[in-house]
Amino acid sequence: MTVTEPSASRAAEILSRPVTINGLTVPNRIVMAPMTRKFSPGGVPGEDVRSYYARRAAAGVGLIVTEGTYVGHESAGESDDVPRFHGEEQLAGWARVAADVHAAGGTIVPQLWHIGMVRKQGDPPFADAPAIGPSGIRLDGTEGAGRAMTRTDLDAVIGAFAEAAAAAERIGFDGVELHGAHGYLLDQFLWAGTNRRTDAYGGDAVARTKFSAELVAAVREAVSPDFPVIFRYSQWKSENYDARLAETPQELEAILAPLAEAGVDAFHASTRRYWSPEFDGSDLNLAGWTRKLTGRPAITVGSVGLDGDVIRAFMGEGASVQGIDDLLDRLERDEFDLVAVGRALLQDPQWAAKVLSGRFSELLPYDATALRTLS
Ligand SMILES: Cc1cc2nc3c(=O)[nH]c(=O)nc-3n(C[C@H](O)[C@H](O)[C@H](O)COP(=O)(O)O)c2cc1C
Repeated sequence: MTVTEPSASRAAEILSRPVTINGLTVPNRIVMAPMTRKFSPGGVPGEDVRSYYARRAAAGVGLIVTEGTYVGHESAGESDDVPRFHGEEQLAGWARVAADVHAAGGTIVPQLWHIGMVRKQGDPPFADAPAIGPSGIRLDGTEGAGRAMTRTDLDAVIGAFAEAAAAAERIGFDGVELHGAHGYLLDQFLWAGTNRRTDAYGGDAVARTKFSAELVAAVREAVSPDFPVIFRYSQWKSENYDARLAETPQELEAILAPLAEAGVDAFHASTRRYWSPEFDGSDLNLAGWTRKLTGRPAITVGSVGLDGDVIRAFMGEGASVQGIDDLLDRLERDEFDLVAVGRALLQDPQWAAKVLSGRFSELLPYDATALRTLS
């Protein structure tokens, strides 16, 4: 697909409409997808992280979802350079990020993250902490490199997410996104491949959703009723790109309904290519099905404006520019409400401004060297 001119006249009109998620009005339909950058030594987002996000807000991104940021639990992370969402200095850094994004006219939510069994013991920032997950099973199926979570662990992690959400509201963020995607902790519970529990948190899809649903309810309780709670989920896992949580709309509904019931205000359905139909017999993508099944606003994502999906980016490959006519058609049909953009926005802080003003010929291809700096 190449960039075509008709998009230019339609893009501003379709993408510039505001949209409401609970108490938040997002000024347009463009979302910055969460992208781990590892530029926050000691877990503290500094001046460069502030200007990185503020630059994109100033250029028209309606809602920024920050890179994944660790909740305050010793086993949450694996890097000292990923920002943390706990600790005085770390939260002070985040408060400045939110203030700068607001000053630039944008809105922003932190993506709250616990990596579960992806962690290896010895990893920073808390080297002695064990890897924990629903059943002590890693994404590749191996056992023995961590342990199954106890009741105490479940409560501690739920508490850490709730505390982080309360902190987000206190320091001026516009909502939170809970990272339930890509094979990290919450997804390890959702996915039968990593959840072999025989207690109330394992078994069928509803039982596997129980941990996330309790966590959402605790987060909901910790923040104001109109403070948006977004839940990101995916079929694919970081070490298993073909994995699926649900083979049918009915199975998907079994997972999403309890989450919506627990207080999720919007879902962020992570796919690698937004144009792929999710189930046989319908053109709807995963976000489309999510919206249809839950009635909640849905964010789509995956290769917007680019060919070549994110997996190729993880292998160090670039991608060329692709048109967005089909995306605009889907937005116009209300298949989904918002559109998250990852690599194209990582590459080019001006991406939203260019698209909103129809300057398609100025869009840049994605080049993997963009990962090296926070420009
Ligand atoms: C460098 C990089 C880091 C990422 N980090 C995260 C992350 O922290 N949390 C998350 O949910 N997704 C993460 N993703 C996935 C993106 O949010 C997005 O879903 C993916 O890149 C597909 O969108 P795109 O094709 O527009 O790049 C990351 C992607 C990239 C390229």
